[in-house]
Amino acid sequence: MDVAAGLEELEMGASRVTVDEKAMINCRADLNQLVPFKYDWAWQKYIDGCANHWMPQEINMTADVATWKSADGLSDDERRIVMRSLGYFSTADSLVANNLVLGIYRLITNPEARQYLLRQAFEEAIHTHAYQYCIESLGMDEGEVFNMYREIPSVAKKATWSLSHTQHLADPSFNTGTVEADQALLRNLIGFYCVTEGIFFYCGFTQILSMGRRNKMTGVAEQFQYILRDESMHLNFGIDVINQIKLENPHLWTAEFKQEAIQMILEGTEIEIAYARDTMPRGVLGMNSSMMEEYLHFIANRRLTQLGLPEQFPGAQNPFPWMSEIMDLRKEKNFFETRVIEYQTGGALSWD
Ligand SMILES: [Fe+2]
Ligand SMILES: [Fe+2]
Repeated sequence: MDVAAGLEELEMGASRVTVDEKAMINCRADLNQLVPFKYDWAWQKYIDGCANHWMPQEINMTADVATWKSADGLSDDERRIVMRSLGYFSTADSLVANNLVLGIYRLITNPEARQYLLRQAFEEAIHTHAYQYCIESLGMDEGEVFNMYREIPSVAKKATWSLSHTQHLADPSFNTGTVEADQALLRNLIGFYCVTEGIFFYCGFTQILSMGRRNKMTGVAEQFQYILRDESMHLNFGIDVINQIKLENPHLWTAEFKQEAIQMILEGTEIEIAYARDTMPRGVLGMNSSMMEEYLHFIANRRLTQLGLPEQFPGAQNPFPWMSEIMDLRKEKNFFETRVIEYQTGGALSWD
């Protein structure tokens, strides 16, 4: 019988785990023993993720409710951006969570990487909660928002692309261990980490954060800011996992496979540019769809470089440098300080 890695029968007297036996995929060493670590970076990301803990209800939505309900609080173009963003993200994060838990987790055979995946899965639950909390606070029609990925073509296109790159992994009997299967897993990791989380999130994030910078919908923008910080860590973890698999299995990273990976990034970029045009038929919030196109070319170059692939948009510049500042945790140390302290004391046990 085929048993999922980590749930095999105990082997009494088996020898202790050594670092050399550990591997990102197709590993035979006991997965229930977290240490000795092979990938310190994966453990560090787990620690960093926990230090950034936050909950959606901590953010005050009062001003947003007033703005959303007042007739002249936002222009029609701004309202469209809020609706489309909540529409896309409210289901996208559930899609990501399902892919992680039902596909990727089972096939990544390293306990410290799995520890981060568990943290990531919980963060995805918090993100879906945050969108639900915004939708409820603003009194939106929840059916209209949650069903948007089956009603609005530019939103549906993104979800459909993400789903089409998990088809192998959605099959519970799928297993790695052959070149074809291992490449299918890599394809899925690139699709979800580099395209879904690495490209499809960026137009919406930029639009909502730009709104917040202009003092509009600041509660929604703050939720998105926390989410963006989590997501940039998810993305970096995913890239590290992909690069580790490449390092341990160089035979998977063929010239043909590299072309396929480049193609996936290019397709994702095109789909996101179409989404930018649909959500910004005119200039709004100091941006327009051609600036977003330039930004997405810049992002695509970045993803390609991170994977060790050649840039496809030479010279593309970042028209929104403030986005990088928001993403870089080290630059704004104070951002989480109060919350981190609250959680550390709030979670401590009291014995008196
Ligand atoms: Fe998320
Ligand atoms: Fe994520």
